[in-house]
Amino acid sequence: STRRDILTMLTTACDTEGSHLSKKELIDQVFGFLLAGFDTTSIALTWTLLQLSERPDLQQKVRGEMSLVLGDDINRTITHEELDALKLTTAVIKETQ
Ligand code: HEM
Repeated sequence: STRRDILTMLTTACDTEGSHLSKKELIDQVFGFLLAGFDTTSIALTWTLLQLSERPDLQQKVRGEMSLVLGDDINRTITHEELDALKLTTAVIKETQ
């Protein structure tokens, strides 16, 4: 498989002797991801949206980029290629951090 998401990487990772993480270690790692990724992501999103609310011109451009790259069907998972193509959106998120 060519999947590169963190769960696939975690379940396929092995040390030099070829041993994988145990079930308990996997569960502990996932708990760490949830803890580390929840507030950080929601607070980053909150600040980004606040910044955009203060810059309607930029908000309009970000919206435009999204419709251009993602099209009308928003009820689906976006691809890595689409994520990479969201240049302005990425720049706004990075400036906010
Ligand atoms: C915008 C969202 C996020 C921000 C701002 C953020 C910020 C950070 C920062 C600053 C550190 C370094 C802490 C230090 O070494 O002093 C860190 C580490 C870490 N983050 Fe995030 N994070 C975010 C999202 C996530 C997500 C979604 C995950 C889980 C998938 C995650 C998992 C981790 C883990 C596991 C570490 C420790 C890495 C290590 O072992 O050194 N983070 N994060």
